[in-house]
Amino acid sequence: MTTPLLILLAAYLLGGVPFGYILVRLKTGQDVRSMGSGNIGATNVLRTSGRGIGILTLLLDIGKGWLSVWIMSHFTNGDLSWMAAAAVAVVLGHAFPIFLKFQGGKAVASFAGAALALAPAALLGVIIVFVLVVAVTRFISLGSILGAALFPLGVWLIYHPEWPVMLAVTFCGAFVVWRHKSNIQRLRAGTENVFRFGGKK
Ligand code: G3P
Repeated sequence: MTTPLLILLAAYLLGGVPFGYILVRLKTGQDVRSMGSGNIGATNVLRTSGRGIGILTLLLDIGKGWLSVWIMSHFTNGDLSWMAAAAVAVVLGHAFPIFLKFQGGKAVASFAGAALALAPAALLGVIIVFVLVVAVTRFISLGSILGAALFPLGVWLIYHPEWPVMLAVTFCGAFVVWRHKSNIQRLRAGTENVFRFGGKK
């Protein structure tokens, strides 16, 4: 019992490593939280600081989500409930990082990484929805919101897991949607940022 609890703590701390914030600081000396949307995630890093570190932020944030769930799987013999708890921990770590006075990001990429380790088939379905929504609307946030909202449904339809897993993924999905409340306001007002893959050169 002690080991999974320690891994949950580690997942929270790993989730709190603000790769986007660190990379922008290293590249430009600026605080990404005072740029663009103010988010520390890959979308805003790409938007404000360039395609390269945007992609790197995406990969590192996905990586910490995946690693957290993978480590939990390794030490619990693939116990899905503990793995789902690790997904919650890494998502909360990214959103409320101890290293940034609990002011973190929207946890889309860390959730996606956790989902990759926990429920890859459901993630694949969500990625297809995400790509289609972004291709049609050019709003990353809308793709993220719909993806996060649909992921629990995908998990249920594909895996029929035990209730603790459903509770955890439903919490994560709802939490990520809630973290997009400023985006939802902008989408409703018609002022949301349109995605350009070029970002800032
Ligand atoms: O991953 C966050 C994305 O869905 C929205 O980012 O910077 O446009 O608020 P942003």
